[in-house]
Amino acid sequence: MYDIYYFSGTGNTKAVAALLKNRLNCQMYSIEETSTVVKDMVLMFPIHGFGTPQIVLSWLELLPGASSKVAIITTGADYININKNATRSAIKILSDKGYDVCYDRIVVMASNFAFGYPDSFNKQLYEVAKDKVDDIVNDLNHQVIRRYVSSYPISLSRILYYCESRWGAKSFGLSLRTKDTCTKCMICVKLCPRNNIVLERDKIRFKSHCMMCMRCIYKCPVQAIHSIGMNFAILSNGYNIEEIIRSPVTDKFVTRETKGFYKHFINYIEDKTI
Ligand SMILES: Cc1cc2nc3c(=O)[nH]c(=O)nc-3n(C[C@H](O)[C@H](O)[C@H](O)COP(=O)(O)O)c2cc1C
Ligand code: SF4
Ligand code: SF4
Repeated sequence: MYDIYYFSGTGNTKAVAALLKNRLNCQMYSIEETSTVVKDMVLMFPIHGFGTPQIVLSWLELLPGASSKVAIITTGADYININKNATRSAIKILSDKGYDVCYDRIVVMASNFAFGYPDSFNKQLYEVAKDKVDDIVNDLNHQVIRRYVSSYPISLSRILYYCESRWGAKSFGLSLRTKDTCTKCMICVKLCPRNNIVLERDKIRFKSHCMMCMRCIYKCPVQAIHSIGMNFAILSNGYNIEEIIRSPVTDKFVTRETKGFYKHFINYIEDKTI
C-alpha cells in the first residue's frame, strides 16, 4: 500500500499526484508539510536542471532508515535522455538508508520555465498524463520494477545541475524585484517554500535562498514579480496549471504529421508505457 509524498513548485506535479491518488485510492502529502512516512512511498517532484530539487534531497536526508518500497515519479517538460539521470541523487540517499527504490518514471507536463509550450500542447500533455497514470497504477499493482539507464554521463548531469541549483537559483532569487503594482498582500511570502521572501521596510524583498521553483512569480495575483537580468526564465504570459486542466480538450497539437521541434514527443504521446 502506497502513499504519495510530493513537492510541486507550480502545480504540475501536484496535478499528476492528484490523478494518481484517485487511482491508487491513497493519501497524498506535500513534503513541505510532513516529514513522517508510514507506508511504501510514491515520491513525486519536478525535474530541475536535470536533477532533483534540493528541497527534496534535504527532506530525504532527514528521513529515518527503513526497508519499505519507493516509487519515484518525476514531472519534466521533456522526455530527453539526460532527464533520466534526474533521480540519481534521490535514489542514492534512499538506497543508503535501506529503502527499496523499485520504480522510476518521468511524466511530461507543460514547461513552466524559459520556453513555454502552446496551450493546446499543454492540454494534450495533461490528457496524456492520465494514460500514463493508468499505466503507472497497473505497474505498481503488478510490482513491475522499472529503473532508467541514461546514455548521458552522470558527471555531465551533475555539472548542469550544480549550475542551475547553486549559481542559477541564487542569482535568480537575488534578481527578483516587485513592480509598483505590488499590493503587499503577502501571498508570495506565505507560499515560498524556502522562506526566501520577506516584507522589509515596507517593501517585498528576495533573499539568496531561492530554489527557482517559480511559484511566487506565477501565483502573484497582479503579476508584480519580475527579474532584473534573468527575465528569460519567466514565461511572459504566466503559468497556471489549473487553467490548463479546466480548458476544453482541443485537436491534438502533436500528431504523426508534426514537423520541427515538437515532432520528438510523438512516441512518448502514443505509447502509454513510455
Ligand atoms: C528551474 C527549473 C529547471 C527545470 N529544469 C528542467 C529540466 O532539467 N528538464 C525538464 O524536462 N524540465 C525542467 N523544468 C520544467 C519542470 O520540470 C516542469 O515544468 C515540471 O512539470 C514543473 O513541475 P511543478 O509545477 O510541479 O513545479 C524546469 C523548471 C524549472 C523551474
Ligand atoms: S504576491 Fe504579488 S502583490 Fe502580493 S506581496 Fe507578493 S509581489 Fe506583492
Ligand atoms: S523566491 Fe519565488 S522562485 Fe524562489 S524559492 Fe521562493 S517562491 Fe520559489
